[in-house]
Amino acid sequence: MKTPTGPPLATSNERRPMRPLPLLVAATLTLSAGASRAATWPERPVTMIVPFAAGGPTDVVARIVGDHMSRTLGQQIVIENVAGAGGTTGITRGAQSAPDGYTIMMGHMGTHGAAPAVYPNLKYDPSKDFAPIGLAAGTPILIVARKNFPAKDLKEFVAQAKASGDKLNEAHAGVGSVSFTTCSLLNSILGTKPARVVYRGTGPALNDLVSGQVDYMCDQIVNLVPQIQAGTIRAYAVALPQRSPALPDVPTTTEGGLPEFQVSAWNAIFAPKGTPKEIVAKLSDALLKALDDEATKKRLLDLGADLTDKASRTPEGLQKLVEREVARWSKVLKNVGAAPN
Ligand code: MLT
Repeated sequence: MKTPTGPPLATSNERRPMRPLPLLVAATLTLSAGASRAATWPERPVTMIVPFAAGGPTDVVARIVGDHMSRTLGQQIVIENVAGAGGTTGITRGAQSAPDGYTIMMGHMGTHGAAPAVYPNLKYDPSKDFAPIGLAAGTPILIVARKNFPAKDLKEFVAQAKASGDKLNEAHAGVGSVSFTTCSLLNSILGTKPARVVYRGTGPALNDLVSGQVDYMCDQIVNLVPQIQAGTIRAYAVALPQRSPALPDVPTTTEGGLPEFQVSAWNAIFAPKGTPKEIVAKLSDALLKALDDEATKKRLLDLGADLTDKASRTPEGLQKLVEREVARWSKVLKNVGAAPN
């Protein structure tokens, strides 16, 4: 048997300075420590960064899905709202957090689709700097207005918007957000240039729409259903091919004579790049269990979420969705002149 090579072993009476552990031993110790941490993860609550103000659609999806995931994981998923810069402030913080499974993020079509086109110096790459976990919910877009807006249907809204030039106030959640991106597309189709009022999320924006401080907004359905049902805002159309089961009385944009405005958003969970695959697998399993849970599904569907895209619920599926959406929105935003370069 080959005798082990390497420095001669010290005899008992020789005093030698402590030598650093050979690299291979140190690496093995580190790897096994990481593997054991992943095996016992989670041992404390997990922070989920929501990159917009509380009460908006991304917050709503995060809390509904996170509630069931907490039960599966046996540790609380604690929502931390970190708003700013169309959601990129919170996502940047999440991307730069330790890849230990204790910080995850709820991103969406804005932060992980539109953002690279509107932020030349974006501090993350949506398709490279994350460990994707999975799609949580598709979120169709509605054109909504303050309840006393002087238009009885979408045709009249379009006529009013075109006649008002820059007099109307449109609310959104920051450059690159879903509300900004989708209403950039709408304004481009209508040829309108409204005053664009920015909020830390469409939760606060909705409050001002209800109180009549702003005129209209393009927002995700999961933020709007209760207000529309209560009659505190007007819904002119849903930008889908068919009406939403959650809002059967709201016509589609096609029915309203605006077939070219068909757009939907989505919200999805990401961990920082480098998160151990065992932890990614546990997070993915908890997400899939949440989306299979009847009560959780009902809460999302009652708010108009679209749960049909099952392929994007896996890490691999979400990675493909992000790559498609970054390519798509960079083209759309350049065409509508919303991309600075
Ligand atoms: C929110 O949760 O406030 C929205 O997702 C913001 C947006 O992207 O419009």
